[in-house]
Amino acid sequence: MSDVRPESLKRITNQELANKFIDDAVKELKEQIKDDKVLLALSGGVDSSVTAALLIKAIGKNLICVHVNHGLLRKNESEGVINTFKNELGATLIYVDAVDRFLDKLKGVADPEQKRKIIGKEFIDVFAEEAKKHNDIKFLAQGTIYPDILESKGIKSHHNVGGLPEDLKFELVEPVKFLYKDEVRQVGLALGLKESMVFRQPFPGPGLGVRCVGAITRDRLELVRESDAILREEFAKSGLDKKFWQYFTIVPDYKSVGIEDNKRNEKYFVVIRAVNSVDATTATADEIPYNILTKIRDRILKEVKGVNRVLVDITPKPTGTIEWE
Ligand code: XMP
Repeated sequence: MSDVRPESLKRITNQELANKFIDDAVKELKEQIKDDKVLLALSGGVDSSVTAALLIKAIGKNLICVHVNHGLLRKNESEGVINTFKNELGATLIYVDAVDRFLDKLKGVADPEQKRKIIGKEFIDVFAEEAKKHNDIKFLAQGTIYPDILESKGIKSHHNVGGLPEDLKFELVEPVKFLYKDEVRQVGLALGLKESMVFRQPFPGPGLGVRCVGAITRDRLELVRESDAILREEFAKSGLDKKFWQYFTIVPDYKSVGIEDNKRNEKYFVVIRAVNSVDATTATADEIPYNILTKIRDRILKEVKGVNRVLVDITPKPTGTIEWE
């Protein structure tokens, strides 16, 4: 199949066009797949979620979703995926708890690219093991979108399970591969997915792993996860979630001196990063109202044990990248 968007595909700018796309896609998917089974790695990101929802509409239970929890997901993320897809949409969903496996492999690894490689390889291994348990699967679905094809930057490479071992050869199903992100969102909404899922901020494949800067330890990873949850909650409460493209916390592997109950201590610090961007190639660190910042600071210092300091990163890209590593 060609990798050029067909001219006949109109820009999907409204619900009506999204519905038409869905009708056509469902028809094509049914014709292509017939009664065979399809496997999909479902991370819970926008692209894999919309791909899953389309396939559920087309082939129902014959879509087998595999959700791998690599331990680097945000707070309650796996629960959300299970709730939406298994409980609400009735999907066939296999949940793989691979937390120990990933964290053991990552132990002591401080180099960011090495961390990414390990996460990517482990992801493919876990997924391949799961795939091998089913001998009646003919297709592999992927949430490839048009910018992935145009840019081929490879940042999605860990999600691209195209690197599966030789003995696992599937035909590819990529129902949203000619869509731009905003179109994928329109289609997601038309399929009935929640706004909180369709308008999620970008989340890197290595997840919190690249925000637990340096060698990942379980305790520091929890600090990232808990502080991130507080930040997201407060951004959502104040509407800032609609004003920023991406917002998260970082916990570097460094302790600074603090004081509590008249005693000096050494604890980690949390960095808040919130940026705006169009395509992630450049970014601005726009203003977060000070009253919201102080509320987030107070909650982090009170609720996240092991933190004695909160910083805000106001660096634009360039010179800084969006993620810290
Ligand atoms: P940077 O940090 O390079 O990030 O300014 C640009 C965008 O890409 C995301 N990002 C990643 N996404 N795997 C991904 O899937 C990665 O390894 C990765 N590194 C960065 C980042 O969150 C931002 O949206």
